[in-house]
Amino acid sequence: MDGNGRWAKQRHMPRHAGHRAGVKSVRVVVEESARLGIEVLTLFAFSSENWRRPRQEVDLLMELFMSALRGEIRRLTENDVKLRVIGDRSAFPRNLQKLIGEAEAATCNNRRLILQVAANYGGRWDLTQAARQLARRVAAGELDPDLIDERTVAAVLSFPDLPDPDLFIRTGGERRLSNFLLWQAAYAEIFFTDVLWPDFSADLFGQALADFSRRQRRFGMIAEQVAAISADGAA
Ligand code: IPE
Ligand code: MG
Repeated sequence: MDGNGRWAKQRHMPRHAGHRAGVKSVRVVVEESARLGIEVLTLFAFSSENWRRPRQEVDLLMELFMSALRGEIRRLTENDVKLRVIGDRSAFPRNLQKLIGEAEAATCNNRRLILQVAANYGGRWDLTQAARQLARRVAAGELDPDLIDERTVAAVLSFPDLPDPDLFIRTGGERRLSNFLLWQAAYAEIFFTDVLWPDFSADLFGQALADFSRRQRRFGMIAEQVAAISADGAA
């Protein structure tokens, strides 16, 4: 979700007005995902590097996170959405941590859509905490280093129980991953758009999904193999 600051600047408004406007787009994309039958939606709300922003902006983002959580719990339940926060929440203010825990608990039985909010998250952070967990198990004599494979690593990352993302959307015109889901997005299809996050709409989401549906995903194979597999599946 990128481009809130520029959206506000274009309107001669302070950056926080852009962040507030961005919350509306979150609502749109969450409700649209639930409606379309998407199973998991992961939003990058605050990166491990965003602490480098001016103090005032960081504080505002924390407040906005709090008020969005407070204000949206009921709506999430109405839409049968289960909320989960990934990232190092221990760095957040106590009251925010508490609120996150409450929102997760209040929505934990919802089934329609899993909404993951990445907060104080970074792909490198995730891989580093995974390495730490594995090293601990090796040191404790519970794990043989020679038996570590991709599944062992994936199992200690942030969401081992969910599939890898199929589609990765970045708004705001930059064409980079910025440390999001580095491991899990290895085979994600990437959709970049110049549209700024507060202007993200159900229509643009639909365009991204239509674009995704036209891609051929080969996972290292050649086109003919993929065609044979899909013909097999269809038969
Ligand atoms: C939203 O957009 C990102 C966050 C919520 C941290 P930005 O705040 O990065 O907006 P730009 O890139 O300055 O326009
Ligand atoms: Mg930005």
